[in-house]
Amino acid sequence: MEIKRLTDNHTPKPFDCGDTDLNDFWLNDASNYQKQLLANTYFVEDNDRTILFFSLLHDKVSILDTVSKNWWRKNIRDTLPEGKRFSSYPAVKIGRLGTDISVQGKGLGSYIIDFIKDLYLSDKNLAGCRYITLDAYKQSIKFYQKNGFQFLTSADENEDTRLMYFDLANV
Ligand SMILES: CC(C)(COP(=O)(O)OP(=O)(O)OC[C@H]1O[C@@H](n2cnc3c(N)ncnc32)[C@H](O)[C@@H]1OP(=O)(O)O)[C@@H](O)C(=O)NCCC(=O)NCCS
Repeated sequence: MEIKRLTDNHTPKPFDCGDTDLNDFWLNDASNYQKQLLANTYFVEDNDRTILFFSLLHDKVSILDTVSKNWWRKNIRDTLPEGKRFSSYPAVKIGRLGTDISVQGKGLGSYIIDFIKDLYLSDKNLAGCRYITLDAYKQSIKFYQKNGFQFLTSADENEDTRLMYFDLANV
């Protein structure tokens, strides 16, 4: 499976992951985000369709994202050694991720999550990055939990999306 980076002259092939906003991002807006240096998008396609796409941008995990300082100490700060206990840590955000309806449930989403974990642990990664973050749609929370992601805060329990994180030191 070849994962390609979006280029200026690429015309996206048809795609439907079941979510209108995500479809629209891939089909109409991903290249604008890339041109403005706001998010880079990667994709897999076959002859007829886009199979999947995902976008990545820099982020941070911050004490300001959590509701409880105790939670932060226990789950984030104290997992780092003495002298490395800060109020925020570098992260990469999965801005968007979608697989085409025709291939959902076949392991491709999890494959991409593993690919991103490997990417940020490999020597191809130019900058320090401890966490992967994302804003999970309610319906995809189980998928991300299966892939090792946890909630960063309870403050967004009633929101449409929930902030989740994965600690790359756990790989
Ligand atoms: C969420 C999404 C990216 C997952 O991709 P996928 O290729 O279907 O995922 P996988 O096949 O790797 O699924 C891995 C596991 O998660 C489960 N899973 C996937 N989507 C799920 C969902 N919506 N609800 C519950 N479980 C889900 C699968 O059943 C599978 O479980 P198993 O290993 O026990 O069989 C894809 O379903 C999608 O594009 N959905 C619509 C858009 C979306 O919600 N994107 C996320 C935005 S935050």
